[in-house]
Amino acid sequence: MAESMKGLKRTHRCAELTKGNIGETVTVMGWVQKNRNKGGIIFVDLRDRSGILQLIFENGSIDEEGFEKAAKLRSEFVIAAVGTVEARSGAVNENLVTGEIEVRVREIRVLSESETPPFPVEEDSKTKEELRLKYRFLDLRRPDMQRNLLMRSQVATLTRQFLADEGFLEIETPTLVKSTPEGARDYLVPSRVHPGSFYALPQSPQTLKQLLMCSGCDRYFQLARCYRDEDLRADRQPEFTQIDMELSFVDVDDVLDVNERLLAHVFKEVLDVDVTLPIPKITWQEAMDRFGSDKPDTRFGMELINVSEVVKGCGFGVFTGALDQGGSVRGINAKGQGAMPRKKIDKLVDFAKEYGAKGLAYLSIAEDGSVKSSFAKFMTEEELSALIQAMDGQPGDILLFAADKNKVVWDVLGNLRLEIARQLDLLDKSQYNFLWVTEFPLLEWNEDENRFVAMHHPFTMPMEEDLQYLDSDPGRVRAKAYDIVLNGTEIGGGSVRIHQNDIQTKMFEVIGFTKEEAQEQFGFLLNAFKYGVPPHAGLAYGLDRLVMLMAKADSIRDVIAFPKVKDASDLMLEAPSEVAVKQLEELGIGVLKSDKVSEGEA
Ligand code: AMO
Ligand code: AMP
Repeated sequence: MAESMKGLKRTHRCAELTKGNIGETVTVMGWVQKNRNKGGIIFVDLRDRSGILQLIFENGSIDEEGFEKAAKLRSEFVIAAVGTVEARSGAVNENLVTGEIEVRVREIRVLSESETPPFPVEEDSKTKEELRLKYRFLDLRRPDMQRNLLMRSQVATLTRQFLADEGFLEIETPTLVKSTPEGARDYLVPSRVHPGSFYALPQSPQTLKQLLMCSGCDRYFQLARCYRDEDLRADRQPEFTQIDMELSFVDVDDVLDVNERLLAHVFKEVLDVDVTLPIPKITWQEAMDRFGSDKPDTRFGMELINVSEVVKGCGFGVFTGALDQGGSVRGINAKGQGAMPRKKIDKLVDFAKEYGAKGLAYLSIAEDGSVKSSFAKFMTEEELSALIQAMDGQPGDILLFAADKNKVVWDVLGNLRLEIARQLDLLDKSQYNFLWVTEFPLLEWNEDENRFVAMHHPFTMPMEEDLQYLDSDPGRVRAKAYDIVLNGTEIGGGSVRIHQNDIQTKMFEVIGFTKEEAQEQFGFLLNAFKYGVPPHAGLAYGLDRLVMLMAKADSIRDVIAFPKVKDASDLMLEAPSEVAVKQLEELGIGVLKSDKVSEGEA
């Protein structure tokens, strides 16, 4: 039976009540967490988004009908209760903000009843994520999820306020835009009016925000929805939110400056964490050499050491072979792990192979100084001790080496470093290490397409001193591009943009676009650039990733109200779904069912 709340007004959220309210008459509303009937006395835990409050129903302070209603309450019933705040009669509950008080109820209304929920609504759910996501509306009632949603809202609000104070205009850009082949796969939306034509959902507002700079907006920001049809991971969703910005008449340092202050402000206000400014900067080259990653986690050491010079000419063919092929030999020193059992080492070798290693050479130094190694037999005493010295190997250490092309060596050791840190529990989630990674390569060689592709996007400005190599040696050109990294996650990235026609034309040439293709895909932008374009630069954060790290969550799904799962479906909405034939006809679309095609039925 659902009663009306007519005549009642909520006076407080549950956890807003404190000892200071003792003696007051209050009206609270929320969900029943738990109901304990002790005969003549009933205790009910009432929950709303603020927390939990204990209600007490006792014969004498409530009429018989009210007492009976209370006795029938079950989990997730929605009730309103009017009563008086009192000091706890029983033991104080230290775990609750409201642990020192309770509300003695004199009137209760059951606003709605609930079926038995498919899982208990409680902190630290042990429920399988699939079930949680199918019943996301229930899952979001859980206190940890409520905290995440609150934090996300705070980050958004603080960002808006900060950027507005810094002179940024919040401007919305369309989400039905034009498909472009660079970047990830697009989500397409068919046009009914133009059968056979499609809009694309934006992967980011990149070109539109550059147009806004052409329009004289000077400083723009937006909390922008972005869509990318790519393989999902714990930090990737097919639709996600960017804090997106663009600024005119600025260079790299201006963008970094305003963003450092933004991050410091948000972290101070939300987490009371002091971010030390300026945030350290390292170049992409240094990041790769020291950490084997363009998003280094600097919460721990175990840095890569290049031992190519030391091992060149040694007797171990795996090492010298890699060097002969133009590769390198690098290692990491897992300090104090010298006693690692063979089984565990073998697991690390398998792990390295997942990242493309042909093997992983190891050398462990026992406490008595004796050495166990997969390759010692190929080296002289002198070669071995030079190698150990280069690695700062001490008794009790294990040294792990990869020999291959640089790209493989970085990837293998960069990931191995993280894996060992995870195993040793070195990753402290309450430590926040920010890092700018700058001077990214402008271009990346794409083996499949046999051409250079833009590492960030084709509008990114080369570094002035490298412009001379754009024709002769495009691979060595560095870009005015930067990423902001937090604890080994890329939370944002951006660049100074090309605003000179000749450089943009050259850039398209280098990535293999003909004049016509460039015009066809980005004509609107190139056209705008003919009419007075200011120098401009920008950056975008992944809001979801940022909040995930702030909330110490393991996945961005935990900070998105209604996320999608690995295969990009929404388990609650059951999307994507088939649509009516009539809808398809209107759009001029026929569907090829691959299984039926092969059976010859299509
Ligand atoms: P970029 O592609 O690096 O740059 O994206 C910016 C940031 O968005 C986040 N991000 C994602 N978050 C969740 N799920 C995804 N699938 C996903 N993809 C990216 C990351 C990333 O750092 N227009 C440029 C920015 C610019 O140059 O101004 C852009 O989109 O945290
Ligand atoms: P092998 O002579 O092939 O048995 O290799 C000797 C050791 O070198 C083994 O521990 C292998 O795992 C390791 N190894 C093989 N290839 C590589 C490589 N590319 N980089 C580092 N170590 C390797």
